[in-house]
This record gives sequence, C-alpha cells and structure tokens, in this order.
Amino acid sequence: MVKNTGSSLLISVFFNYYNNMEFLPVSHESILKGAQILKNGGLVAFPTETVYGLGADAFNPLALAKVFEAKGRPHFDPLIIHIAAIETLEKAVNLNLLSKETRKKLFTLAENLWPGPLSIVLPKNEKIPGIATAGLQTAAVRFPDHETAQKLISLCGTAVAAPSANPFGSLSPTRAEHVLSGLGEKADLILDGGSTRIGLESTVLDITGECIRILRPGGTPKDAIEKLIGALQDSENKEQRANINEQGLTSPGLLKSHYAPNAALYALNREEIIKEPHETEREAAGKTAFMFFDGCTKDEWIAVHSAQKPPETIIVKVLSETGQPLEAASCFFETLHELDNSNVSRIYAQFAPGQGLGEAINDRLRRASCN
Ligand code: TXA
Ligand code: MG
Repeated sequence: MVKNTGSSLLISVFFNYYNNMEFLPVSHESILKGAQILKNGGLVAFPTETVYGLGADAFNPLALAKVFEAKGRPHFDPLIIHIAAIETLEKAVNLNLLSKETRKKLFTLAENLWPGPLSIVLPKNEKIPGIATAGLQTAAVRFPDHETAQKLISLCGTAVAAPSANPFGSLSPTRAEHVLSGLGEKADLILDGGSTRIGLESTVLDITGECIRILRPGGTPKDAIEKLIGALQDSENKEQRANINEQGLTSPGLLKSHYAPNAALYALNREEIIKEPHETEREAAGKTAFMFFDGCTKDEWIAVHSAQKPPETIIVKVLSETGQPLEAASCFFETLHELDNSNVSRIYAQFAPGQGLGEAINDRLRRASCN
C-alpha cells in the first residue's frame, strides 16, 4: 500500500512553481512521468521498502554520471542495479559465469527472499557500463519489495541503477522530504510515497567468490540467508575491514565514516549509556540527545540520574519501547534526521542486541560514530 504525507501537496506546489524539479505524490500518472524521465536520461528519486533511491537508467552512462555528481559520490563506489522481476535478472548479470552450484544457490535466495531487502553481487552483464559498477566485473542486483519501485522499473522497461538518495556519506533518506532537503533540485522528480517500511538499506551479499559473504548487513538478517544456503563466512574478517581484496575495493560502502549525522555520535552499550551523565556535568555547550534502543534502558537511565532534573538541552528518544529490532530499524534514520533538524551537538546512541536486524543497526552506528 502506498502512504502519502500530508505535506506533500504544499511542498509540491512550492517546488513545482519555483524549480524544474518536481515533487509529486505517488500516483499512476506520477510514476508514468518518472518512467519517461528515466528513459530520457533523467534522475528520479523513488521509495523502496528500505530507503529512498536516486534512480537512473542502468544502461545510460551519462545518466549514471549524473547520479555520482548529484550525490557527490566517489566513482569507486558502485551502484545497486534494481529489477522488477526475477525473469529480467539477465538484463543486469551474466549467469553463464556462475558455477552450477552457485546458480542453484542464487535461485534459492531469489525465489525465497525476493522481492526484498537483499542485493546479490553477481558477474555483470557486459551491457552494464563500467561507471555503474565502478569498474568492477560484478554488479549488485536487487528486486525491491515496493509497489512504486516495481511499477517505475517495469514501466521504463530497463534496469534502474539507484544508490540511496542522499548526499554521499550522510544519513540515508526514509522520507521524500529527506531527499528534498539533501539533494533538492538535483533530481528531476521526487516521488513521495511516505515513510519507508524497513528504514535501513538492503543486505549486500557476495556470492561470486569461493566463500559467500555479507559485505553490508542490512534489511535481510544473516539467519534468513543461512537457513536457505548454509553457513556464511564471517563478514568481520581482517581483509574486509580494510575494504580491500585483490581486485580492489570489495564493497566501498563499507567505508568507516558513513551514514553520519551532523552531530557527533557516540555509540555505547547498555551499561555505558546508563552511566553517561547529563551534559551539565560534562560542561558541554549545545543540546545533547540520548537515543535508546529500548524503553527499559531509558527508564533505568532516568532512575540513575533522577537526582538531577534533565535540563531542557537534553532530548531523549527511544527506537522501540518494547525492544523490537524491526521497529527500531524502521525509525533509526528517521530519528537521526529529526535530531539533526533539532540542531543537537552530540548524540549518545545505544547499540541494539547483535542478532537479526540489530546487526545492521549496529553496523550503521559504528560507521556513524566518532568514538
Ligand atoms: O536498500 C538499498 O540497498 C538502497 C535502495 C535504494 O535500494 N540502496 C543503497 O545503495 O543503499 P547505496 O549505493 O547507498 O549502497 C550500495 C552498497 C554500497 O555499499 C556499495 O559499495 C555496494 O552496495 N555495492 C554495489 N555494487 C557492488 C558490487 N558490485 N560489489 C560490491 N559491493 C557493491
Ligand atoms: Mg547509501
């Protein structure tokens, strides 16, 4: 189902009058318009179930170059190629380069987890220009579980290369308004489909090598993959932490400093965040935010610090009162965007329990943190 935000109409009237860029609520007409823009080499920001993407025709090198320029993204960071049916996979990849066994695993994954938040790295089809894959011979392919994304891709009849629709290195967008404030007129059209359901990017899984491994934890938990194709290699090996293998960068999105808010973020475990004193004790200027994973930890923090009344310069957020990773993931970036808009100077953020989607939340916290 497509959700629309109430502010969409006002924003669309304002921007459509003053700029060439259009900001439109999702409808059959606006998706058709988006498909036409993509066919003509333009850029369209659209919702997926994970985060908003900034789409371009995956076979048009000029359009792809515009994506890198719009995001200020280094050319060594490859884009994910989006498709809208398993049958069209071969538009983007060359399945002949896979062993029989790997091909079997690929289809087991695709049939069970697609459409969904899983990007699978595969040998690329030679028709995909090198700029899309940053010169790699592989392409990460994803079939998003979102009606608007699927319609847009089907209607333009091509594969759509789309990174998250945010300036390089900053928070990923989970609402159309985030795209507007981050990229503004750099997109030709922003399709407003409301808040995204999952709120964290897809899991990136590399099945091209001898060992299958997760390059980026995300919306599909490791367990769901292991249940289908067996144990994966530990993604936290030394080689990968350096982001480098013999061919160059394995997954450049794994750069340490990424997905970062403007405020200084400190990622802490439960015990550390409970101990964390109020800002007056730190003699720090500006607002401080606490982003708790669950309500119990917040309550404990309040109990420990109840001697002092929290000053007005403290903002307290809880990702999930009942400690549900799915709920916490869905408002993770949204909460960080809100805190950035409230001009906080520092954020103390609590790690999630390390399983399931908690792994992806913790990965983003580590990359955003300065401690
Ligand atoms: O959920 C998502 O994945 C969103 C939505 C829009 O689909 N897209 C997204 O794209 O997060 P982006 O560009 O922000 O992140 C893509 C990640 C990067 O870490 C990139 O390095 C990795 O995927 N990647 C893309 N192609 C790759 C390849 N051929 N080999 C290894 N890593 C690749
Ligand atoms: Mg991104």
